[in-house]
Amino acid sequence: MPSTIVTLDAPLDMHLHLRDEVMLRNIAKASAATFSGALIMPNLVPPVSSKEALLAYKKRITEAIGEEHFTPYMTLFFKSEYDRAFLESVREELTAIKLYPAGITTNSQGGVSGFDIEALRPSLEAMSDLEIPLCIHGETNGFVMDREAEFVSIYEKLASAFPKLKIIMEHITTKESVAALDRFENLHATITVHHLLITLDDVAGGMLQPHLFCKPIAKRPQDREALLKVALEAHPKVMFGSDSAPHPRHAKETCGCAAGVFTAPIALQLLTELFDTHRSLEHIQAFISGNAQKIYGIAPLSKKVILEKEPFRVPAEYNGVVPMYASEEIAYSIKGVRHG
Ligand code: NCD
Ligand code: ZN
Repeated sequence: MPSTIVTLDAPLDMHLHLRDEVMLRNIAKASAATFSGALIMPNLVPPVSSKEALLAYKKRITEAIGEEHFTPYMTLFFKSEYDRAFLESVREELTAIKLYPAGITTNSQGGVSGFDIEALRPSLEAMSDLEIPLCIHGETNGFVMDREAEFVSIYEKLASAFPKLKIIMEHITTKESVAALDRFENLHATITVHHLLITLDDVAGGMLQPHLFCKPIAKRPQDREALLKVALEAHPKVMFGSDSAPHPRHAKETCGCAAGVFTAPIALQLLTELFDTHRSLEHIQAFISGNAQKIYGIAPLSKKVILEKEPFRVPAEYNGVVPMYASEEIAYSIKGVRHG
């Protein structure tokens, strides 16, 4: 039987941590080799919160990716102090602004506490007028399994207070977030590949798996089913965002494991396998690129990635970072990448 060939055009990763310095230089090409572009998260130390910092970070990314054809879509770390004049001055340089609740995840200490709509109004109204999308890490500081579901009421408050503001619920993991998508026209979402594949059982049901530990934590089977449904049909309000979040091996395999799953080098292979297994390959192009192009109004560089159904053994590590499924075999391999 001839093996299955799948060609993806201009894959986009709309939630990516590229880090900085040595880590940036070590892992940037893992995304740039196969993706046409990615939305770059701003949670550096200190966070990217000025025009100068954003432009300097973009330059370091461009240097790290070298010859690859890859667009870094830049973001700023949300601050309620951002005023209209500042946002106007930076509009052309960014694709979105990312809001973190204070202290909820890696390097989010300077984020928002309390979600007082009136305190947020000046900056969010200006973003709405300037058509700057707002990406949100939606978790409260409640019980870990309920944090995202509890945050849905905050999404709803924001979505109705700022009906023209495009809000992206980042890396959703629950059926409650999926249900919210259809209630508000201005709510959209990214979904990771690991949350389509694993549940909390895979993280902590047997021996603890630090390389599958991330924020938000993987949830219940029924949550994964709800995510799979909208991803596999490429619901127009969802798009792929890997939340690939590398940490050095010593920060994961330790007492006090850092949160983040590193999937960048295998994300396309895993998604192709998943869509194939569920007989949904006709929708993968929309999930991996088309929906994001419409939601963000971006036109990525063409980049054809050819995948073949041939087993690929995932390396044990990439420059000191352990990927998801390290040393295991996955069903699809990348056969080639063509530009233009
Ligand atoms: C991310 C990181 O390490 O920067 N970690 C994670 O578990 N996803 C931050 C984030 O997106 O929450
Ligand atoms: Zn993230």
